[in-house]
Amino acid sequence: MPGHSEPRKRSGRRSHDKRWVTLRVSKKQGDVPTRDDEITIRLGRTSDLQACRLIENDAAGIFEAINMSEIDDDSPSDIATLDEASRDGRLWLACDDDDVPVGFAYTHTVDDCPHIQELAVLRAWQRRGIGARLIEAIARAARQAGAEAVTLTTFGDVPWNGPYYARLGFRTLAEDEFSAALREILAEEKALGLDVTRRIAMRLDLRAPTPKG
Ligand SMILES: CC(C)(COP(=O)(O)OP(=O)(O)OC[C@H]1O[C@@H](n2cnc3c(N)ncnc32)[C@H](O)[C@@H]1OP(=O)(O)O)[C@@H](O)C(=O)NCCC(=O)NCCS
Repeated sequence: MPGHSEPRKRSGRRSHDKRWVTLRVSKKQGDVPTRDDEITIRLGRTSDLQACRLIENDAAGIFEAINMSEIDDDSPSDIATLDEASRDGRLWLACDDDDVPVGFAYTHTVDDCPHIQELAVLRAWQRRGIGARLIEAIARAARQAGAEAVTLTTFGDVPWNGPYYARLGFRTLAEDEFSAALREILAEEKALGLDVTRRIAMRLDLRAPTPKG
């Protein structure tokens, strides 16, 4: 996961989480998502914060399939961090046609650029391009704000992490391209127990290349 700012506690199984049940039943009857469901990307609000935590918990279950259940066991982003992101306009939600959140992302600012701190989509909604749309929204807003790039740190060898972001136009930074702030984020991840040999920093350049000649 992109740079978490505090150690993550182990949590219990999510399937028994009453708040999760509430989120699921709040969707309309016959709740299997189809490709026809309309997804809206919008900025997050205070009322979305709990849903973000539930989405993050559910999404992390995807790591079980590749024997990285320690990621699934992590606690989600804390409410105060999400709240701050939402107040600053750094929290993005993907919602179904009933405005029920199914995915989210938030950034913080590193080297004057948005740095994706978290991106998660409910497992039932994954692989429909929702993650890509959230990143697109972040990149568009960043470009409008005059930022040069969007950055993140991630696992280089997990299919829905490094290779996925590469498909979306991010490039892996060489170590000599790391800023002091990116080095600090990777050091924090090491302190949290993430396998740093598998962590990479990536950058989506937003400035169009200048024509030659
Ligand atoms: C990363 C994540 C948000 C992507 O959301 P999404 O809505 O599924 O993203 P998209 O539909 O835009 O693209 C999904 C791509 O991820 C890759 N991917 C996802 N699941 C995969 C799997 N089981 N095996 C191989 N590749 C997979 C594929 O490249 C896939 O594209 P494809 O469906 O065209 O093959 C989602 O996988 C997730 O929540 N993962 C858990 C949390 C996480 O790892 N967050 C990123 C932290 S850096």
